[in-house]
Amino acid sequence: MRPPIFQKAFYFLIFTFVLGFLLFNLTLDISHHQGYNQLVPLMKHNTSRTSEMNKRRQLISTNAPQHVTKKVVDCKGCKEVLAKAAKYYAEPWKLQDDNHQEFTFRLSSKCNGSEEAIITQANTPLNSVISFSGESRSKADVTPALFDGFPKEHIFSSKKLDTCSVVGNGGILINSTCGKQIDSAQFVFRCNLPPVDKRFKMHVGNKTDLVTANPSIFYIKFAALNKNKTPQFLETMQAYGSSYLWLPAFSLRYNTKISIRAARVIKEFKSPIKPVFANPKYHKKLHSFWSSLGLREARLSTGFMIVSLALEVCKRVDLYGFWPFEIHPERFNLLTNHYYDNVPAKKAFHAMPSEFERLLQLHSKGVLRIHLGDCQPDF
Ligand SMILES: *[C@@H]1O[C@H](CO)[C@@H](O)[C@H](O)[C@H]1NC(C)=O
Ligand SMILES: *[C@@H]1O[C@H](CO)[C@@H](O)[C@H](O)[C@H]1NC(C)=O
Ligand SMILES: *[C@@H]1O[C@H](CO)[C@@H](O)[C@H](O)[C@H]1NC(C)=O
Ligand SMILES: *[C@@H]1O[C@H](CO)[C@@H](O)[C@H](O)[C@H]1NC(C)=O
Repeated sequence: MRPPIFQKAFYFLIFTFVLGFLLFNLTLDISHHQGYNQLVPLMKHNTSRTSEMNKRRQLISTNAPQHVTKKVVDCKGCKEVLAKAAKYYAEPWKLQDDNHQEFTFRLSSKCNGSEEAIITQANTPLNSVISFSGESRSKADVTPALFDGFPKEHIFSSKKLDTCSVVGNGGILINSTCGKQIDSAQFVFRCNLPPVDKRFKMHVGNKTDLVTANPSIFYIKFAALNKNKTPQFLETMQAYGSSYLWLPAFSLRYNTKISIRAARVIKEFKSPIKPVFANPKYHKKLHSFWSSLGLREARLSTGFMIVSLALEVCKRVDLYGFWPFEIHPERFNLLTNHYYDNVPAKKAFHAMPSEFERLLQLHSKGVLRIHLGDCQPDF
């Protein structure tokens, strides 16, 4: 029979051993998953959620395959942008009128988007020549037929909008329940003909006032808009009601004919959608404006251009679906590239993290607001 003192020492030894083992594993675990540590401060602004999120974080950090964590860490410049996202997003957001006015005044005086973002009869006279934005040598003559299709006046010139939602197509919108909040804005911008049907409506809304189209979709999805595919094209357009359809007809020559054809089809079949051509002059001005602020990308993404336009014409700009990383900032699940598919972006053209960094700066200055978390479903 063992004396009780031995028994106590024995249990104490086992206890210390088990505790040490647990602590050792935990440190090992955390150091293996630096990527998540970058993300943690994102949720610090809501303490009642923190313990719940910590639980999920632990679950992920022990179960997530290595490639999940590597994705955040390996992406060039992502760590820094993520750290900024965490810092800025943790602070409460408030519209800061003087910053907003100062910035939008500079933007307007350099880019004149409210008058020149789209081609109109007022800013592009008959018989003038349009220089393309994406190819320096390409030009187009403004013939009477082309000129007739231009709207007379600019669509934004008459008044300033109060509230605007700009919807990026990021996978972060999945299960966000942001639909009602997005649609509550006076004007909703969307990019690249995203689906807004009942499968997605709850999370992305279904109101659209301006939607952009990358003309390559007309070749790929609608067989270059030949007669057989016209009904399908018009049916797709119905989802956007009577919104403006923004076509970059004069960025690359490849886009010109097909954009003009799209506009003609819409007119011929009396679809309520209103096609407008993006103005390459505006595109070039935006490019030099942003490069003077240190953003030296080969091409600005459409989403980024639309945000710039919204800043000029709206008093209040709310962004949804802008999150260029592959992990959800609060749920930590892997995200698809778009909320509706997982086709990767052309990373060679657009440097989303550096554009996102600019947007974050504007968020932190109270000029616009980026929404990353979920919304109240019955906003
Ligand atoms: C914090 O999270 C809880 C639970 O998700 C939620 O009910 C509450 O509204 C949140 N508070 C803030 C300030 O976002
Ligand atoms: C903006 O564009 C309009 C129309 O082209 C022009 O009349 C106006 O002078 C421009 N304003 C600035 C500040 O460039
Ligand atoms: C979204 O929510 C549904 C229903 O709760 C769930 O089945 C699905 O896995 C969720 N998707 C993501 C990406 O979170
Ligand atoms: C959006 O959905 C609502 C309710 O389902 C519907 O009444 C409305 O017509 C839809 N809007 C558009 C632009 O399709």
